[in-house]
Amino acid sequence: MSSRRIFRPLLALLLLVGASASLSVRAADTQNSPAPDTMQSKVAACAACHGAQGQGTDNDYFPRLAGKPADYLFNQLQNFREGRRKYPPMNYLVTYLSDDYLHQIATYFSNQRPPYPTPSAPTVPDSVVARGQQIVLNGDPSKNVPACIACHGKGLTGMQPAIPGLVGLHNDYISAQLGAWRSGTRHALAPDCMHEIATRLNDADISAVAAWLSTQKAPQNPVPAPAGSLKTPLACGSEPQ
Ligand code: HEC
Ligand code: HEC
Repeated sequence: MSSRRIFRPLLALLLLVGASASLSVRAADTQNSPAPDTMQSKVAACAACHGAQGQGTDNDYFPRLAGKPADYLFNQLQNFREGRRKYPPMNYLVTYLSDDYLHQIATYFSNQRPPYPTPSAPTVPDSVVARGQQIVLNGDPSKNVPACIACHGKGLTGMQPAIPGLVGLHNDYISAQLGAWRSGTRHALAPDCMHEIATRLNDADISAVAAWLSTQKAPQNPVPAPAGSLKTPLACGSEPQ
């Protein structure tokens, strides 16, 4: 990870912690009742990095949350809380939050429909982008890699209840996640199909799929496919079939 990726988010987090600390001091001063427990207050701490509606930000590493299936988002919040995913600001923020609270936040972001950003122009040669497209749409039978759309859907909007959409994500974020699965710093519920798939891809394959995916426009109706509408080619613990 580059230092920019680490320090920018940490700075954002410090500002947030500072802001909420001064808020609670002020509340105590005026003997007010505690801040109202609204959804707005619950997700305020997330906006700096994910946007108020979970639309993401310009930062190459902060993912979009909006519109992803609620169970997917919930699983990730649990993964951060229980150490199956590692990113210190996220691990820290959810340490003391209950399942019920995490469910509410997940449902909120899942129901948001902010517009998608304009996809980025490719920064790699056309041949790399074409290789990425080939893997996403058709897989690579020589490496036993299934097509990504077999589970993430033709429109790349995911499938209920727990497969995320891949549109609207930045190139750097996608390649970092595939790298994390390969190296074992990101885990999903077993059997972890994404670990299986990521370990069949080499660095060049990962750069290629990330490059092509990050240039894709969201479809007109960017909702996840209904549960069970796609037969996944591998078993995934987080998506019971
Ligand atoms: C300091 C910046 C920062 C803040 C604040 C923050 N996040 Fe995150 N969040 C990230 C980054 C970066 C990732 C990706 C980390 C990784 O896996 O490498 C992430 C990942 C996630 C994911 C997984 C997304 C996916 O598609 O897999 C969820 C869900 C999430 N955050 C929810 C929240 C919620 C809810 C809050 C507020 C309580 C929050 N985040 C606050 C930076 C932040
Ligand atoms: C067998 C079904 C299946 C196939 C095929 C598949 N995926 Fe996935 N993918 C999943 C599931 C399930 C998750 C959610 C895992 C979790 O809960 O963390 C996921 C999550 C992801 C994520 C994380 C998104 C985020 O917001 O953090 C990325 C990136 C991803 N897949 C990329 C790919 C790529 C690229 C391919 C093709 C090479 C692919 N997937 C093929 C099932 C699949």
